[in-house]
Amino acid sequence: MKKSHFPIAIDFRHVDLHFGKKQILSDINLQIPAGQTTVLLGPSGAGKSTLMHLAIGLLKPTKGEVVALGYNLAELPAAELKGLRRRLGMAFQDGALFGSMTVYENVAFPLKKVLRKKNKEIKEQVDQLLDAIGLYEMRHQTPDKLSGGQRKRVGLARALAIEPELGFFDEPTSGLDSITSASIDALIQKLQSQYDVTFVVITHDVQSAAAIADHVAVLDHGVLLEFGSKSEVWNSTNEVVQALITRQPLGGSQSPH
Ligand SMILES: Nc1ncnc2c1ncn2[C@@H]1O[C@H](COP(=O)(O)OP(=O)(O)OP(=O)(O)O)[C@@H](O)[C@H]1O
Ligand SMILES: [Mg+2]
Repeated sequence: MKKSHFPIAIDFRHVDLHFGKKQILSDINLQIPAGQTTVLLGPSGAGKSTLMHLAIGLLKPTKGEVVALGYNLAELPAAELKGLRRRLGMAFQDGALFGSMTVYENVAFPLKKVLRKKNKEIKEQVDQLLDAIGLYEMRHQTPDKLSGGQRKRVGLARALAIEPELGFFDEPTSGLDSITSASIDALIQKLQSQYDVTFVVITHDVQSAAAIADHVAVLDHGVLLEFGSKSEVWNSTNEVVQALITRQPLGGSQSPH
């Protein structure tokens, strides 16, 4: 993987996003550091996936700007946005695999169509990735034969196949057992330290977050509540942040407040 040359990988500047009349994100100011792993934590519906879609130019902000790898997405012509997307790896929350292709073909797809690599090189790389996610034996199956967690892992391998400068993983471990989750976390950590790549990982899994995060951003109801190093955020006095980290319901009898 190539090292990013920008100290800030993604810069969200005063970003608002509305879907129709509904405000989904409010004045998001967030600088995601390059060469590290940032975990995005927040309750369901907080706007985490939407923020990731903005970062890769799938959505446009209603207000504000998004700068990814030094490019202001609003000013980028379509052809250049396509070029930039080749440097970004995305594993979507639902896996978003091609149903008619096998596991192998799904992971090989970006290598063939985007990077136009030769078959021999593709095979070596795909086999290695399938091995890393523990699905080599399933390589000839189509996604409908896989469990939800297995599909997720294939999505992760496909995102990593292009060796992105910036990798986005939306809930890479949700629905997985704790041992498989730990192996995905270990894979993310290994790749991060090996290549100094920038990762943005959305997760509900506090254990995963603790394992992989350098920085943590906490989003709630479309507002950025907290951003900082893992220890800064873990020590946050914000009630919502503490509730998320300790997995205690807000205002419940278990709550320290
Ligand atoms: N295409 C859309 N049109 C209208 N509203 C949307 C759309 N996509 C998402 N939303 C709304 O935006 C809000 C944020 O959704 P988002 O998917 O970003 O949340 P999330 O933090 O990723 O949640 P989860 O943890 O459940 O995946 C939700 O209220 C959702 O209903
Ligand atoms: Mg989501």
